[in-house]
Amino acid sequence: MTRKPSRRFVDPVQKFDAFNDTESTVAIAGHPLHAMMVAFPITLAFCTFAADGLYWWTGDAFWPRVAIWSAGVGFFIGVLAGIVGTVELLAVRGIRVRSASWTHFILAVMLLSLLGANWVIRHDNAEAIVLPWGMLVSAICAGMTAITGWHGGKLVFDYQIGTKDGHRDPP
Ligand code: HEM
Repeated sequence: MTRKPSRRFVDPVQKFDAFNDTESTVAIAGHPLHAMMVAFPITLAFCTFAADGLYWWTGDAFWPRVAIWSAGVGFFIGVLAGIVGTVELLAVRGIRVRSASWTHFILAVMLLSLLGANWVIRHDNAEAIVLPWGMLVSAICAGMTAITGWHGGKLVFDYQIGTKDGHRDPP
């Protein structure tokens, strides 16, 4: 018995001529600036959470000062990294057409709002706010950073977003 050819569903986005045109444009010698910059907000979000935990443990007023600085610097470098990522998202056609890039954008904007809030709530009294609110917001920021960072890695390592076309070819 001969089998009828099955009707295959094709994602119309994949048929877009620039679908694989995903090479990073905001880069230094081919190294994407966004990937270099996100290391700072990621690390500092976890440092803020750790500083809050160390204050809870030791009661030393040094740690809330560490927390306000790491929260603030992490937020500002995160905003810069977000601006670079947004330029990439809007300028590169193969990045712009993919829904995963926009999912990452939405996650990142939510994360940046939380990182900003974690800095601002500490302004009046950096020590008094730590328990419980500072620590709670830091914990949410750390979790949200993990999700956003993991998703950013998925863009690069699963979908090759930001990478050069034909990168698997031998040199
Ligand atoms: C606000 C807007 C943002 C946009 C539009 C954006 C967009 C992108 C894009 C297009 C990529 C693919 C690589 C590239 O082209 O450079 C990427 C990768 C990545 N993003 Fe974002 N991003 C944003 C914010 C953030 C933030 C705040 C974080 C921090 C957690 C983050 C974490 C990552 C990570 C970890 C990667 C993978 C980098 C690598 O391993 O090469 N992104 N992002």
